[in-house]
Amino acid sequence: MPTHTVLVTGGAGYIGSHACVELLNAGFKVIVVDNLSNSKSESLSRVQQLTGKTLSFYEADIRDKTALTQIFANEKPTTVIHFAGLKAVGESCAQPHLYYHNNVFGTLVLTEVMQEHNVKQLVFSSSATVYGVTELTQYHEELPLGAINPYGRSKAMVEDILRDLAEADIKNKCEYPWKIALLRYFNPIGAHESGLIGEDPNGIPNNLMPYVAQVAIGKLPQLSVFGDDYPTPDGTGIRDYIHVIDLVRGHIKAIDAFNTEKFSDGNCKAYNLGAGRGYSVLEIVNAFENVTGKKINYKISPRREGDLAEYFANPELALKELNWKVEKTLHDMVADTWNWQSKNPQGYK
Ligand code: NAD
Ligand code: WQD
Repeated sequence: MPTHTVLVTGGAGYIGSHACVELLNAGFKVIVVDNLSNSKSESLSRVQQLTGKTLSFYEADIRDKTALTQIFANEKPTTVIHFAGLKAVGESCAQPHLYYHNNVFGTLVLTEVMQEHNVKQLVFSSSATVYGVTELTQYHEELPLGAINPYGRSKAMVEDILRDLAEADIKNKCEYPWKIALLRYFNPIGAHESGLIGEDPNGIPNNLMPYVAQVAIGKLPQLSVFGDDYPTPDGTGIRDYIHVIDLVRGHIKAIDAFNTEKFSDGNCKAYNLGAGRGYSVLEIVNAFENVTGKKINYKISPRREGDLAEYFANPELALKELNWKVEKTLHDMVADTWNWQSKNPQGYK
């Protein structure tokens, strides 16, 4: 089998670095393009250390067409996994222009360069935030979309753009049509079991798991549990947490699927990547206490604006068409988070 070269945008980041490990272990050649706006190149040194394999790294912005064109000409990738993007919901409300420029315009530049080099296999990091508010708690791919913040809308806009690209090729019976997987992640947590790579948020974490981990290590004094009066069994919010290693394996399954009948005439398909079950905030806190033996200091605080009580994935389509499902348990997610946090109390610094 010829070696496939996968270009990974945002490969130095949390999910991207774990994807690089799985790609290298699966025998792919890996090229990373990252502007390091939310990551450190140390993550990539660790990826190479733990796989014993090398990758190529370009510090570049995906909006820089000249740089991207040069990279495509040099490296001749066959497939792109597109993680590069900004992801903080609150920041996106404060700075919408930044989010649309980075996430939407960045993807336009990337796909333009891909098209010019006839590289038309793309796996895109979408998000469960593209779904609209609904009575249902379990989301399947056919539900109407209706993101409620600029970050989510930037993902939904990119999905629309990518669907249009694929559609145009199908209509034109293009010889090398776009093959695009839109992977809608639920709540990625955890870290590589080695503890060498993991999530290293800038400043105070927005998300539950890194927050809990920093309380456990003593970097933060107390967790605020945002609301205990939701219509859930213990009153706290329920989410579908997914181990980052399970998540990145879904990307390799998507690349495999590009060679199947589903994508043979070109296609753009969305898949939920989630476990299909949820845990509440207090279940996460309890699991963390059980695994680490540490008491998590928390207080009940008011609800956080924009939060829903409960949602989780219907992951059946990914099982049927990508032959993918989660393998890891809540214990794995918590133990691997703690292994990373305790070995790297200051992250990559
Ligand atoms: P991350 O911030 O750790 O990684 C994103 C990487 O992209 C960073 O290394 C950053 O430096 C880089 N980047 C950002 N803009 C860039 C640009 N213009 N040019 C080049 N590099 C750029 O985030 P993550 O958690 O690894 O998320 C990866 C992707 O998955 C993002 O697109 C995010 O929106 C999406 N996603 C994440 C989650 C989550 O909870 N972590 C959930 C759903 C979707
Ligand atoms: C999980 C639960 C909070 C922090 C976000 C983005 C989403 C996706 C994943 C990118 C909720 C509660 C949290 C805290 C708490 N990212 N919580 N105290 O909000 O489900 O999803 O990350 O695509 O777009 O919106 O994840 O980890 O912030 O919250 O009680 O300090 O934990 O209320 O119930 P969320 P989260």
